[in-house]
Amino acid sequence: MADNLLVETRDLVVEFGQKRSFLGRAPQPLRVLKGVNVGIGRGEIVGIVGESGSGKTTLGRSLLGLQAATGGQVLFDGKPLADFPGGEIALRRQMQMIFQDPMSSLNPRQTIATILSKPILLHGIAPDKASALARIAEVLDRVGLPQAVLTRYPHELSGGQRQRVGIARAVMLRPSFVLADEIVSGQDVSTQARVLQLLRELCAEIGLSMAFISHDLSVIRALCHRVYVLNGGVVVEEGECEKVFANPQHAYTRALIDAIPLPVVSQDWLETTAA
Ligand SMILES: Nc1ncnc2c1ncn2[C@@H]1O[C@H](COP(=O)(O)OP(=O)(O)O)[C@@H](O)[C@H]1O
Ligand SMILES: [Mg+2]
Repeated sequence: MADNLLVETRDLVVEFGQKRSFLGRAPQPLRVLKGVNVGIGRGEIVGIVGESGSGKTTLGRSLLGLQAATGGQVLFDGKPLADFPGGEIALRRQMQMIFQDPMSSLNPRQTIATILSKPILLHGIAPDKASALARIAEVLDRVGLPQAVLTRYPHELSGGQRQRVGIARAVMLRPSFVLADEIVSGQDVSTQARVLQLLRELCAEIGLSMAFISHDLSVIRALCHRVYVLNGGVVVEEGECEKVFANPQHAYTRALIDAIPLPVVSQDWLETTAA
């Protein structure tokens, strides 16, 4: 594991359904994370892979402090999330999320300009609207969107453009950590490759740390430095992507590798497919 972790979990346990039942019998809680230890280093892109229901989204939400822990803890920069200096708002600036299709997370009645300027003004990053717009122009350019999208509404953009707006919004505040949960699922391979390539460049440029959740190990291999394999709320395997691929230790990991539909030859795949 990388030293100097930015975000980590220690023996993280998350249970659902702990309310007392109607008849007064205590139902068994559903234990979704069963003592999970993961860490994301500074500037590192870490994959979290596992089949549907293995607990990936719950883990991702826990990393951002959006899901309460039943046991164990989540640390940011070595300190529990609850002790983050400046509290919730300061934490939100440091930890951002990219959505699969941001349609549901973008206000349909606001233009892209309004959507993107709100967090900047809220967090006091730009003193006035003019400098907010300058920052927006810069980030739009960086994620490959034309300035013309600024006057449009979310429904007037393509799915791919909306995703780039979501990426722009996530990196706008120069966070140190971004969570991406299944963001390329359902896209064709070349669209996937372009988005992954953009994420990789952004991470390198601004020293961003990223947790990248996917059920698809080939996508993780193309993008991530390290990977955690989650099965039934337990990390069954972890390591550098290439090593895990070359020599998977756990039967579950081997099954995930066997489930990859197309052979991905190497990390060069990303560069060649995104070009
Ligand atoms: N808010 C919740 N309440 C009850 N059960 C939940 C909740 N969120 C997730 N679960 C359950 O936790 C398990 C893991 O879900 P999730 O973290 O979404 O897995 P994944 O993202 O790997 O598909 C599933 O069985 C799911 O039904
Ligand atoms: Mg999920």
